[in-house]
Amino acid sequence: MVTAANINEIPNFGKKVVIISGQEVLLVNCKGSIFAVENECPHQGSPLSAAIVKDGYISCPRHGYRFSLTDGRCSDHPGLTLMTYPVEVRGDEILIDLS
Ligand code: FES
Repeated sequence: MVTAANINEIPNFGKKVVIISGQEVLLVNCKGSIFAVENECPHQGSPLSAAIVKDGYISCPRHGYRFSLTDGRCSDHPGLTLMTYPVEVRGDEILIDLS
């Protein structure tokens, strides 16, 4: 696991894009739980940094498809899955696993 950010950098319902090993990862704070997903919609590649987060889902700003923050599944288009990454919070540090 690698350190991605400090917990204080992502307020509740906030997001932060980090680049790790050349890969853009979007960190999301949803009611105190931290999630890490790829910052590229699997539909047509829109960045998700401007997406709306609600009830454990992230909605793409381009066409509105909703993806689960937990497993990346898309309820609007079952053939699409957003990549999600394991997250661990140790103290103030957010660690993610990109492997
Ligand atoms: S690009 Fe994200 S829903 Fe179409």
